[in-house]
Amino acid sequence: MHPELIKLEKTFKPSILTKIDDSLLDQYEIELWMKRDDLLHPIISGNKWRKLKHSLDDALFSGVGTIISMGGAYSNHLHALAYAGKALGLKTIGLVRGEQPQTLTPTLSDMQNWGMELKFVSRSDYRHIRQYKGCHDLPGLKPGQYWLPEGGAQALALKGVAELVNEIDVAYDILCSPCGTGATLAGIIDAVTAQVSVMGFAALKSAGFLQADIESLLLQPSNNWQINLDYHFGGFAKTTAELMAFIADFESKTGTPLEPLYTGKMMYALYDLIAKHTFKPGQRIIAIHTGGLQGKRGFYA
Ligand SMILES: Cc1ncc(COP(=O)(O)O)c(C=O)c1O
Repeated sequence: MHPELIKLEKTFKPSILTKIDDSLLDQYEIELWMKRDDLLHPIISGNKWRKLKHSLDDALFSGVGTIISMGGAYSNHLHALAYAGKALGLKTIGLVRGEQPQTLTPTLSDMQNWGMELKFVSRSDYRHIRQYKGCHDLPGLKPGQYWLPEGGAQALALKGVAELVNEIDVAYDILCSPCGTGATLAGIIDAVTAQVSVMGFAALKSAGFLQADIESLLLQPSNNWQINLDYHFGGFAKTTAELMAFIADFESKTGTPLEPLYTGKMMYALYDLIAKHTFKPGQRIIAIHTGGLQGKRGFYA
């Protein structure tokens, strides 16, 4: 690993594995555990670090000076990239979906303060740029520039995600993660043993495309996985009073913070599916907390 990246990783905290202590779960004889990747780092938390780590390493060793990527106005990915770029001495450019808001969101404002150059792109251009999936693919890329596709979803991301799976040192039946682009889930599917089932929970509405996107990212084909499309709560970044009440209750019961875009929706889904007897008594489920708690600011402001 590049010495600059080793220096940055030294500032990280361990991602612990904890069993959720809740009599409701005992009632269904299900063990639900969380892999607390949110604890890794206050900014480059959760799957952001897992997905960025090896791409950043690749960029540093390739001697590039600038990383360009894309995301929305609350993007955890761009936020983490901007911070990492500053820490590693790399220039960063963020292609942000939609018109420039009159007042920058807290996420965009952090990114700018960390030196990221923000370029606002129309929604149709954004959809177009999304198709460039490889680090050299973006048209007009100049020498010394490195392209990271949306969500950091490239093959190198899977290598970092595998590290989180390899850290799990208890036996388990099911491993769960929220899904945006599906890159995190693809990394998990590639890394688990054949006895483990993998469940992804889509944060977006009409996310049927994830099946093919994930299949195209997998290093080896596998059929031990599924994506649940039923718990999007109206679409990306949409919430309901019921979801918010679940999150508040979970946080007060367990002391574990959740955000309502990804991990909050997945945990709601798991509790609901457990109550519907979807899992066999005695099964142990591990849910990955993919971090992104900075995104909460948009909801509780
Ligand atoms: C906090 C959080 N969790 C989960 C995801 C979904 O990850 P992926 O895009 O790899 O499916 C994202 C988006 O990258 C995220 O920001």
